[in-house]
Amino acid sequence: MLLANCATHASLKTVYYDLPLPSQLRLERGAIVIVLVSDLHSDIYGKDQSPLLSRVYEASPDIIVLAGDIFDDRASRLGTRLLLAGIKKDLPETPVFYVTGNHEYDGGDVDGILRELAGFGVTVLRDDYSAIEVRGVPVVIAGVDDPNKALADPLYNTAFADGPLRKAAAIDGYRILVCHRPEVAKRYADYGFDLLLSGHTHGGQVRLPPLVNGLYAPGQGLFPRYSGGLYRVGDASLVVSRGLTTRRPPFPRILNPPELVVITITSRQ
Ligand SMILES: [Fe+2]
Repeated sequence: MLLANCATHASLKTVYYDLPLPSQLRLERGAIVIVLVSDLHSDIYGKDQSPLLSRVYEASPDIIVLAGDIFDDRASRLGTRLLLAGIKKDLPETPVFYVTGNHEYDGGDVDGILRELAGFGVTVLRDDYSAIEVRGVPVVIAGVDDPNKALADPLYNTAFADGPLRKAAAIDGYRILVCHRPEVAKRYADYGFDLLLSGHTHGGQVRLPPLVNGLYAPGQGLFPRYSGGLYRVGDASLVVSRGLTTRRPPFPRILNPPELVVITITSRQ
């Protein structure tokens, strides 16, 4: 019975969340659609990522967010390259933003990874932010470098993020923060962000809905509070993706299929 519920790439699903735009902002038309890709760990879906890419295309995203652990320190980079190449080819106008995860630092070649991302036109946010406009709405998107940066750079302090993030959160518009680890993201909830986006947990690996929403997540331990789903943290919404890999850690995901997340933000009626 349990084996029948082990997640495979064939069980990939798209998870949808609908969120309201703050009342002081007005969309010119439609809705803001964000596709959140997290913890791919360079897995390859089907032939050349086509099942995953077709779900991304189906969402018609205005923004694509890569929330870390897209690459993996123990796997070839091919899977991630295929995904990024597909997005670049078929959604050339869609802005793509990336933050580091722990596994990108664990590989010891973050600079090489960042060069690859730049080659695919991806904007890397390392304790930094970008301001864009989507459907007439100013959108600020900030990103936090993974704390494992301190392993590569002993002079790095996570407090360095504070200044840029406070600046981003003070800009008028819809304010998004991307941070690989949800237990870190929630620290920034009261800065003034509307939406926090995370991954890292792999859904807590084993789920027993509706009783257990995740057994274990690194950084949070057993029965993690933010294992996957939509949460309210202060005035911010926090969306935690359960991620896309089915290989890590080396025991199966149970009742916990890999997921692509699609967030739709609409004006309040
Ligand atoms: Fe991670």
